[in-house]
Amino acid sequence: MLKTENCGELGLDQVGRSVRLAGWVHRRRDHGGVIFLDLRDRSGLVQVVLRSETAAEAYAAADEVRNEYVLEIQGNVLARESQTVNPNMPTGEIEVVATRLVVLNPAKPLPIQVNEDDEVDELIRLKYRYIDLRRDAMRRSLELRHRMNHYIRNFMTERDFWEIETPQLTAATPEGARDYVVPSRLHHGTFYALPQAPQQFKQLLMVAGIERYFQIARCFRDEDLRADRQPEFTQLDVEWSFVDEEDILGLMEELFNGLTRELRPDMTTPSPWSRIPYAEALERFGTDQPDLRFGLELSDCSDLVKDSGFGVFAGAVEAGGRVRGVVMPTGAELSRKEVDRFTDLAKTLGAKGLVSIQFSADPSTATEDDVRSPVLRHLGLETANAIGQRCGAASGDLVLLAADADSVVNTTLDGIRREIARRLELADPLALHYAFITEFPLVEWNSDEDRWDAMHHPFTAPFEADMDKLESDPGAVRARAYDIVANGYELASGSIRIHQRDMQERVFRLLGMDEAEAQERFGHMLEAFEYGAPPHGGIAPGLDRVAMLLAGRSNIREVIAFPKTQAATDPMTGAPSPIPQEQLDELAIITRVDETPSEDAVDGA
Ligand code: AMO
Ligand code: AMP
Repeated sequence: MLKTENCGELGLDQVGRSVRLAGWVHRRRDHGGVIFLDLRDRSGLVQVVLRSETAAEAYAAADEVRNEYVLEIQGNVLARESQTVNPNMPTGEIEVVATRLVVLNPAKPLPIQVNEDDEVDELIRLKYRYIDLRRDAMRRSLELRHRMNHYIRNFMTERDFWEIETPQLTAATPEGARDYVVPSRLHHGTFYALPQAPQQFKQLLMVAGIERYFQIARCFRDEDLRADRQPEFTQLDVEWSFVDEEDILGLMEELFNGLTRELRPDMTTPSPWSRIPYAEALERFGTDQPDLRFGLELSDCSDLVKDSGFGVFAGAVEAGGRVRGVVMPTGAELSRKEVDRFTDLAKTLGAKGLVSIQFSADPSTATEDDVRSPVLRHLGLETANAIGQRCGAASGDLVLLAADADSVVNTTLDGIRREIARRLELADPLALHYAFITEFPLVEWNSDEDRWDAMHHPFTAPFEADMDKLESDPGAVRARAYDIVANGYELASGSIRIHQRDMQERVFRLLGMDEAEAQERFGHMLEAFEYGAPPHGGIAPGLDRVAMLLAGRSNIREVIAFPKTQAATDPMTGAPSPIPQEQLDELAIITRVDETPSEDAVDGA
């Protein structure tokens, strides 16, 4: 090797040694007669000193060197004088006095400064990702992901799970997003779909008698992208035979607690994890992905306002909706303008408005002078105070209320609750609050298509106790499905599966699939269930989101080596890009767009 040592691992133990190092120039300082270089490799930085007096040739070479040149350095490790020790640098007690410097490769002026934490436009970062990844935070992200995968593989292997690879070229799966498709050259007019998840294969592995399967699996979904969604992402895919919910939840709790302790010993996690039924989560937090690091639970005030003189509230209750509220502690001091920002947010979330009530005295005793609300006249003091008490407001607090159908109020108050926590900094960044959400409905009504859709996926088993309602009242049937949530994100979904043909056919029928369609799309699953399928279940944590939370970031692109832009493009390789006519001909494909995409589209701008 060109190097005998790693830069970041040098210390007082190596003093007196002659070493060979190789790496990048992180920073260069010229003091006339003495040049200091911080040399960087993957392990970290060390200070290299070049003196014109003692190593004239190396000094002259260092004069030419610029940031990010790749160098080989030969030199001696020396302890620094006490006044020059740098306590902020792990190798700050020593330096390497160079005797020889070889430029292995120069570098042009950089589009991104590696030695600074500046905000850089993300398109530039993605276009020059190989430079961006040299930055400390990104290098640490990649290291964290490596250690996460390593931990997971050990953990699952110790528990007798086998890692088995499943196809990337497959048939469409029903995970709810659009497929990415790949045209077949050998069978013109047909397409493979890239897997949205290995769902069917892992169930078929159970039928195959594998009993315990896992895979760190790449999944592909063509859907609207967000901070926590990429077109391709990674799941820890798990399937297990002869188990019930307890086995899978227990395994996951142990895995994630251990993983968090290993990678983030400074983070606190609750133990045991709480389990919140879906309906209760919506009632208390307005969402099935609650951030449990803070309280701010929602309260139902419908009964208090249904007969009030305030038409907006009375009318919403009349129409079958409800009026619910959330408290912002200390919010009584907010100006009109600051309160209005909540109303604006509520409107972007689909609400028609938001009612505020500010209490400068405790709502049990507040007088007209203590209560401020744009609708106080309509509500009356007594009702306003009753609302304050119902919501648990104290003197100095603000109550925010939304009135509408449950689905609208849930979305609105979930967003408002998160915004209150953000403004008051209530979410501890060093807490990772995991929980399970359980008892999801099996199906939800799709009013656009006029049919029931599977809430998780069509292979999820219904609750035994609810089976009699499967045809008569499908919306009331609970599924044996569960999610893991943490800090306001959905980390994982899973379920106990259907493993009998007749039950699977009943669910397909409920989802509006006739026999012919079920046979065409999932005939292989139905048939497999007739050849001795064991009871089984599984789960799939999204590892990009897990890594994001463990790294303390708020976007999964920060923990993916080469992610796509929000517009699903890669500014570095130019993907997606047109392909040559010959290739199209071979695939028997005629495209309807003959222009090459504009620069903007390629950049994802
Ligand atoms: P589901 O579709 O809920 O379940 O996905 C499981 C987890 O995968 C992650 N995830 C994503 N991460 C990043 N970008 C995306 N576009 C994206 N989509 C999903 C989330 C999510 O919780 N086969 C079932 C699992 C099972 O039943 O075992 C499935 O895929 O963290
Ligand atoms: P309006 O009657 O539209 O002038 O609204 C009176 C007050 O009620 C304003 O403060 C609105 O923001 C609020 N408001 C209107 N619709 C709703 C609603 N559905 N839920 C909560 N507040 C609302």
